[in-house]
Amino acid sequence: MTQPDQSIQHRPVLVIDFGAQYAQLIARRVREARVYSEVIPHTATVAEIKEKNPVALILSGGPASVYAEGAPTLDPEILELGLPVFGICYGFQAMTHALGGTVSHTGNREYGRTDLDVLGGSLHQGFEHTHKVWMSHGDAVSQAPEGFEVTARTEGAPVAAFECPARRMAGVQYHPEVLHSPHGQEVLTRFLTEIAGVEQDWTAANIAEELIAAVKEQVGETGRAICGLSGGVDSAVAAALVQRAIGDRLTCVFVDHGLLRAGEREQVEKDFVAATGAKLVTMDEQQAFLAKLSGISEPEAKRKAIGAEFIRAFERAVAGVLEGQQVDFLVQGTLYPDVVESGGGAGTANIKSHHNVGGLPDDVEFTLVEPLRLLFKDEVRAVGRELGLPEVIVARQPFPGPGLGIRIIGEVTAERLEILRAADAIAREELTAAGLDDQIWQCPVVLLADVRSVGVQGDGRTYGHPLVLRPVASEDAMTADWVRVPHEVLEKISTRITNEVPEINRVVLDITSKPPATIEWE
Ligand code: XMP
Repeated sequence: MTQPDQSIQHRPVLVIDFGAQYAQLIARRVREARVYSEVIPHTATVAEIKEKNPVALILSGGPASVYAEGAPTLDPEILELGLPVFGICYGFQAMTHALGGTVSHTGNREYGRTDLDVLGGSLHQGFEHTHKVWMSHGDAVSQAPEGFEVTARTEGAPVAAFECPARRMAGVQYHPEVLHSPHGQEVLTRFLTEIAGVEQDWTAANIAEELIAAVKEQVGETGRAICGLSGGVDSAVAAALVQRAIGDRLTCVFVDHGLLRAGEREQVEKDFVAATGAKLVTMDEQQAFLAKLSGISEPEAKRKAIGAEFIRAFERAVAGVLEGQQVDFLVQGTLYPDVVESGGGAGTANIKSHHNVGGLPDDVEFTLVEPLRLLFKDEVRAVGRELGLPEVIVARQPFPGPGLGIRIIGEVTAERLEILRAADAIAREELTAAGLDDQIWQCPVVLLADVRSVGVQGDGRTYGHPLVLRPVASEDAMTADWVRVPHEVLEKISTRITNEVPEINRVVLDITSKPPATIEWE
């Protein structure tokens, strides 16, 4: 069963996705301009677009030439809706084509940083006459549609930008959404505010208020909900929103599987509860997980064992929570990128519990509450701050579900977990003290538990374990680069770990990007 998504009252700027890897990024940039936006596939009909009641349209880039066979087309009727329109790259060309301008095979492909000459108009006003933009195109607009002023050019694109304030339309051949176009964000913002005239009211306070109202509406006056907390940002913010909406009709469940880092359980039990007043059930499951992990070294087998046991533990917790009371809703911290990537379907899925939290009785059926399903990660953090969640939770770096279990190379045992936990706490403490948290996406600390190396400490020979530091920078974890942590910080971490954690006699640095390596070692 799906229902129309009514969780957000704001009218969106619709980013029409012509197959660009950049459509989501454009939507994010629009939101950074404090304007609500959504991505919609280019196959959406005029009626579907109208139903969304947008305030403006942005046509994204795409891989194709407008003349290529099977190229995604733009229904000219969309341009007759009287809405402000901004075209980017392929969207710029599709718009030109639909409005009677000319797109030509110039044979002059531009890719990468390119000099843009400003000729006029308002969107580029006040910038350097020639400045860098990021280009990625083969065809180029050779003639703007009638009534449009050509406002910029490049060597390979005689019409690299145009504007028609009377029709509230504009476009650029380059990609304003990428950081390699330094004025791009400003150009997008100017289009939204000056040409489209939309209000910049997408703020954390407004978002929180709307989402709380939407949860109230969905769960109703008497409904009850449960939420599994992982210790991560998303589930914490989702739970905090739902708690604001329905108070103690929400029960949060936290499974301590023993694979957490130092302080994480306390963050949930003390800081989260103190900040939200949420009702929390903690499950002590360390022994059960260790028993299931006994004898397993292979990474996939570990993941499977941890995943399966997690479901069992959650099921035991829910059975306890459910005792004697009807619980209809399950809260999940799904984010917008997941929604877009899985087809962008708006709606509230009604799931059979055993599909998601396996093993629950067949007659128990939850409706999902996904208050973050239209938000990007940075917005989730902003909403979390708005709701008063502490920085230790809101600014938390990503941490994998299987936890320290996949950071011990070899079998996971209680003793090895303790060694890794101690070393990890030192590394995190020193990186934070050095002010590096903003530069580091995450820093796995990996115990090579099955490897031993010889060392010398005091007067004696040691035979200990090496430990790997893996500080990485990333935007989305799909690719990553290793962070050039200053040598003196590395030195301090190494000295402290080898002094304070006797089982470790060697600290090494992972200097591999992703690809070819992954971020985690397993
Ligand atoms: P990799 O190692 O694939 O990791 O480069 C990419 C990102 O995903 C996290 N990660 C996981 N998160 N369950 C999770 O919830 C997992 O099984 C898992 N494996 C990796 C990893 O920490 C990084 O942020």
